Amino acid sequence: MVKVAIIGVGTVGESVAKILETNKELICARAGKEIVVTKGVVKNLSKKRNVKIPLTDDINEVLNDDSIDIVVELMGGVDDALKVVKTALTNKKAVVTANKALLAYHRYDLQAIAKELPIGYEASVAGGIPIINALKVGLSANQIMSIKGIMNGTCNYMLSKMMSEGVQYEAILKESQELGYAEADPAFDVGGFDAAHKLLILASIAYGIDAKPEDILIEGIEDINSDDMEFAKEFGYCIKLLAIAKKSDKNVELRVHPVLIKDTQMIAKIDGVMNGISVIGDFVGETLYYGPGAGGDATASAVVSDIMEIVRAGQSSPMLGFKKPHESQILKLLPIDEIESEYYLRMSVIDKPGVLADIAKILANHDISIDRILQKPNSFKNQAKLLCSTHTCKEKQIKNAIKEIEKLSTLKDKVSMIRIED
Ligand code: NAP
Ligand code: HSE
Repeated sequence: MVKVAIIGVGTVGESVAKILETNKELICARAGKEIVVTKGVVKNLSKKRNVKIPLTDDINEVLNDDSIDIVVELMGGVDDALKVVKTALTNKKAVVTANKALLAYHRYDLQAIAKELPIGYEASVAGGIPIINALKVGLSANQIMSIKGIMNGTCNYMLSKMMSEGVQYEAILKESQELGYAEADPAFDVGGFDAAHKLLILASIAYGIDAKPEDILIEGIEDINSDDMEFAKEFGYCIKLLAIAKKSDKNVELRVHPVLIKDTQMIAKIDGVMNGISVIGDFVGETLYYGPGAGGDATASAVVSDIMEIVRAGQSSPMLGFKKPHESQILKLLPIDEIESEYYLRMSVIDKPGVLADIAKILANHDISIDRILQKPNSFKNQAKLLCSTHTCKEKQIKNAIKEIEKLSTLKDKVSMIRIED
């Protein structure tokens, strides 16, 4: 018999207990041993919960119990979760976690402590989609040329509803929280940080890159408004929050931000809480993974599969994938300023002769070529909205151009910018 304890019996933890009970016979048969949840740890014992497992509010009852084989960390947060996982590993317990924030900062430290002890973290990226397994196992014969995906269910749910039904930002964020999609602090979702945490985890497996969230380009969806949605519709785009890793000869670029993407692309058709990830390998070509990216049951499905794999296989391969990550010797993180993209700019301006010419001149001075331009009336008298897209240039070019445009006396607000991804 294998004994499991769940630290954190909230949205995901409750579902883990439920799956292990509902599918007990199938799970034990497939894992080859009986799996029993002996304890769940929570903060507030008086909260009403829909679980039958014995509960405690004392983490040490689990961490110091020699009979527990696998600790499932589902409490969230970084610092306390780090202490818990370190102690569990030091006490020779295997660990399963869905905590991408923890792994975004400490995956290499935890790998060093774990050594041969297994750490399962399939649930940390894209909920129910087995993308970690795909990279560690299924695609391991390939150089990974790119990973491009919708990795935050909350943002995709919000953007889909804003695009198709014109629902207001605040109302739809509240709905995502009620549905159990959002993080305890939803700023992690809408600010792009949650998707960035996931991207960093995937980049470790694919490229051996040891980067932290602070090292990469992260922008969220907070500034997207109905004008952007209109421009997108008018020119055949939709707006998605994408996490992107791209490899060149010596560099990997890692970035998370909203994009305008052609509405004919597969990834543009992924709506609601669904996640979708495209991975291109040098021999396999493009592979695409689709499924529910958030929610208790979908995430718990991945947590339980990790528990089963640990029970089946015992000692595992290193959590980050490979004993000697070959590519980490060669590849460096591309500086943010060097990233190249096409861009869309939204500007509120005074509607008078010469304004458009001034903006076009600044862009030209920074060697940026305009692709399309659209002018719309503003609700304020004598003002207009200018919506324009550019051909490819570098981040430092567009950022410097925006700084200059924002100094024009005819500009009424900050310039809003979205990258265009083909
Ligand atoms: P949640 O609903 O907030 O549940 C957290 C649980 O942890 C609660 O039961 C809470 O106890 C307990 N807890 C928190 N701090 C604790 C402490 N110091 N000691 C003991 N128990 C503590 O969170 P969740 O949505 O299940 O998410 C759990 C983890 O999975 C997070 O790392 C999250 O990022 C990750 N994840 C979530 C999803 C999703 O869709 N929800 C998807 C993928 C990954 P109380 O109930 O008493 O407050
Ligand atoms: N808050 C996360 C999301 C949960 O919305 O994608 C799944 O990781």
